Amino acid sequence: MKAITDQWVRGYRLGAIPLLLFFSACSQWTASFIDVRSNAETMVMGAYSATPELNQRAVQDPSQKICSLMPDESLTQDQMTFVTDAAKHSVSYPNSGHLTGDWKKGAELVADGTGQRIVNGQIEKLARNGALCNNCHQIDPKEVNAGNLGPSLVGYAKLRGRSETVIRYTYEKIYNAWAFLPCSNMPRLGANHFLTPEQIADVVAYLTDPQSPVNAP
Ligand code: HEC
Repeated sequence: MKAITDQWVRGYRLGAIPLLLFFSACSQWTASFIDVRSNAETMVMGAYSATPELNQRAVQDPSQKICSLMPDESLTQDQMTFVTDAAKHSVSYPNSGHLTGDWKKGAELVADGTGQRIVNGQIEKLARNGALCNNCHQIDPKEVNAGNLGPSLVGYAKLRGRSETVIRYTYEKIYNAWAFLPCSNMPRLGANHFLTPEQIADVVAYLTDPQSPVNAP
């Protein structure tokens, strides 16, 4: 009887080992998933430890936190609504009340990629920030230095007109792109203070003015 019990205990122990290994691997896998994220966040936060102003950029607002979920964690309807609502509330307008400004100033901004870059470990301070649009969009059909991360905006107002609705949409889209498409790759240029409301109005004019090269015949 004792021999049988010993055998059973030995067998039970042997069987328990793979089982324990299996459970420990599972918990380690889950832990490593979470660890990778927190390690990465710590590394980003620590990258410019001597310059708190730069570290401040790594602090995610509630919408960015939602949008930074791992790619296989798709957003719920509630999360999407949260992000679009927050984006809509973030929009402010020029004091003049005019959502279109000077298209020529807009043309300069669209082609200008400077301002608030990191140069020699410091944030570049310029009197005026560029709008970066050409980095991602073809806007002037003649511009050779244009990116393609975003859709082409050539012929913008020729294609959709320049009604009040189009102008307002264009202004709000540039101010906070997530008001229309949560977590898209377009930066939230007004909401994150890269462009002032007046600068955005100039860019809106550049996209919609019939005289602008964007809408050239
Ligand atoms: C980092 C890349 C990037 C930059 C910089 C960028 N965009 Fe975008 N933009 C996108 C992407 C990607 C989309 C498509 C997803 C979306 O709608 O948010 C988009 C969409 C748009 C749309 C909507 C297109 C439509 O058919 O209605 C407009 C308008 C627009 N961008 C204008 C601009 C302007 C003007 C600027 C500069 C002030 C700019 N974008 C800067 C990436 C960018």
